[in-house]
Amino acid sequence: MKHNTALLLLLACSFSLYAQKSSDKKIKPRNEFIPELMAKMTIDEKISQLVQYTADGTVTGPKTGINYIEEIKKGNVGSILNATSVKYTRELQELNLKNSRLKIPLLFGYDVIHGYKTIFPITLGEAASWDLKAVELSARVAAEEAAAAGVHWTFAPMVDISRDPRWGRVSEGSGEDTYLGSKMAVARVRGFQGNDLMAANTVLACTKHFAAYGAAEAGRDYNTVDMSERVLRETYLPPFKATVDAGVGTFMTSFNEISGVPATGSKFLLRDVLKGEWGFNGFVVTDYTAINELIPHGFAKDSANAGELALRAGVDMDMVGGIFMKNLKKLLQEGKVTEAQINDACRRVLEAKYDLGLFHDPYRYNNEKREKEVIYKKEHLEAALDVAKKSMVLLKNDNNVLPLRKEQKVAFVGPLVNDEWNIIGSWAASGDRYGYAVSVQEGVNKVVTDKGKVTFDKGVEIVDPRRDMMQAALDNARKADVIVAVMGEFENMSGEAASRTSIDLPGIQKEFLAELKKLNKPIVLVLMNGRPLTLNWENENMDAILEAWFPGTMGGDAIAQTLYGMNVPSGKLPMTFPRNVGQVPIYYNHKNTGRPYLGPTDPEQKYKSRYIDVDNSPLFPFGYGLSYTTFSYSNLKLSSKTVNMNGSIKVSVDVANTGNYDAAEVVQLYIQDNVGSVTRPVKELKGFEKVMLKKGEKKTVEFTITPEDLKFYNIDMQFTAEPGDFEVTVGGNSASGLQDKFVLVK
Ligand code: NOJ
Repeated sequence: MKHNTALLLLLACSFSLYAQKSSDKKIKPRNEFIPELMAKMTIDEKISQLVQYTADGTVTGPKTGINYIEEIKKGNVGSILNATSVKYTRELQELNLKNSRLKIPLLFGYDVIHGYKTIFPITLGEAASWDLKAVELSARVAAEEAAAAGVHWTFAPMVDISRDPRWGRVSEGSGEDTYLGSKMAVARVRGFQGNDLMAANTVLACTKHFAAYGAAEAGRDYNTVDMSERVLRETYLPPFKATVDAGVGTFMTSFNEISGVPATGSKFLLRDVLKGEWGFNGFVVTDYTAINELIPHGFAKDSANAGELALRAGVDMDMVGGIFMKNLKKLLQEGKVTEAQINDACRRVLEAKYDLGLFHDPYRYNNEKREKEVIYKKEHLEAALDVAKKSMVLLKNDNNVLPLRKEQKVAFVGPLVNDEWNIIGSWAASGDRYGYAVSVQEGVNKVVTDKGKVTFDKGVEIVDPRRDMMQAALDNARKADVIVAVMGEFENMSGEAASRTSIDLPGIQKEFLAELKKLNKPIVLVLMNGRPLTLNWENENMDAILEAWFPGTMGGDAIAQTLYGMNVPSGKLPMTFPRNVGQVPIYYNHKNTGRPYLGPTDPEQKYKSRYIDVDNSPLFPFGYGLSYTTFSYSNLKLSSKTVNMNGSIKVSVDVANTGNYDAAEVVQLYIQDNVGSVTRPVKELKGFEKVMLKKGEKKTVEFTITPEDLKFYNIDMQFTAEPGDFEVTVGGNSASGLQDKFVLVK
């Protein structure tokens, strides 16, 4: 977890570098400036602040036919998404300011999810690092580059918890766990927004998709969600709330309905919970045409009705759909919405623009020189490499086939072996692929100087069933000491609108692996994919498996350095890998049921909560990941066996590096509340720490548990901790560890 000084500086300097400039207009403080401005605004001008259109560059949703240039000329636009580069955003800003009577600047938004040009691992991969500093750094670099290219606002972090790997958008989130997801969400907000939004190298963040989008039925994108308020509040909402507490500037509604009410029309979610209970002061943008979609949802009868329901529910800005522009004024005249509602939404949007410094200088993000200097900066590429290395998860390593040795003859095969397109993953913002991303082949060639030791062959495609390249690959593989197969999904098989019913390796990749297996050589499978895959056969037949996710611009270097032992894998799964898709949804913090199945040694095999054709356990549990070294856990100690409502308990454990490599280990703390007024999960992650241990080194890791960590929504929907017995487990994954107990007393 060593960050070099340059990287640490990057994290620290988000406010000093580009804060208030002498060229800035001297304007009044926000609490005077905004009311005075609003007092001058007509109702049309106020409504225009609630309107966002897409520039025609990137298509990130259905086309609407609205001409954004014409709308800007009419002074009808508050924000534009998908316009990037200093030059283009300057042109649009100039056009806007020419046509805006009160010179209100446009806000430029863009999906900067895991990097702007320098692309980091997909978000799910970053979560596998369990390294909050690394994730914050990734968001910081993304903000630096995006801000330098005219972008004010990113539609990230995506904090949707999901327990369903069929859903393609798991690639954009931090996985299945509420605790890990909340920590990651906060790290990202900090990275994007820095310490000072006014600094021109920070961007406004947007927590999305509010809410429960990741629980879409059957993992099908945009599908219905039906869940209890308890599960919503306990499992799905905490990462959102954590970002509000961390000061996130904006929120995005989700496409789905929850228990009959589309999120974009949900007063409960937006006004009651977000703006009410949580006191969120930023603004809420819808997802792409989500107000329009209230009609096919069967929630609004026409576009006017949709606009009315959305504004009343608490939406402040209409993304792309044009519904607010078309209807709000008339709705106001008819008394269906109030001026106070429009004013409130307008104020929130203007305040965000103020906080970014756009009233001080609408061009503070438009500096060509800075754009050239900042994008693909050396430190950014170093940071991307660092995070990619930390995100690698070693799933299997029989007979220590990894790390490879440079004197071995290695046949690299597979469709992703020389790939510069897929390796940066989906939602890769403006990231360049060909000519910029480092392929595995390029990475290996940097590490292995004796070119006679390595061969590279595609063998098969990802999906296309053509077999004409297979023989050449097999011929080279036959001559090698070790085979490394680099396989996985196309980048666009995960992300938005990319749900799958089979989560096997696509195409004939497995068939090719079976041919390779016949050669009787050790085989290492390196995977690039945006979701957990079903890998039963691979697990049985491959000697080693390295989960590399889509590792980003520097991915090939990260993989090569990991394969050859210059990096020791330390990632842990942020999502359960099922044995087959029939086990989905599958997650570690499930309930026990009244008939829990104890596994193959259970004396009662019938009438238990189990499948008859496959074990209940996953193939690889949440939190799992091997290393080239080994760790041993011992000496679990609780500072006390009881704790009262105002107290705390210290849990300590000794972790020793018992193998041959210096390496990092993610020490995980899980708690089970044995009995509750409502049933509780079998365990829940409540703490983790990534520790670096030199070979032979032992460290004591300490956690503090307070009653706050034990709270849940009780039978009366009060968020409280109930006295009783608790089980503590500390270990290197969610399925094993040292255990002890304590009692919470009144
Ligand atoms: C739709 C996606 O759901 C959302 O995540 C994204 O931010 C918007 N499109 C804008 O591109």
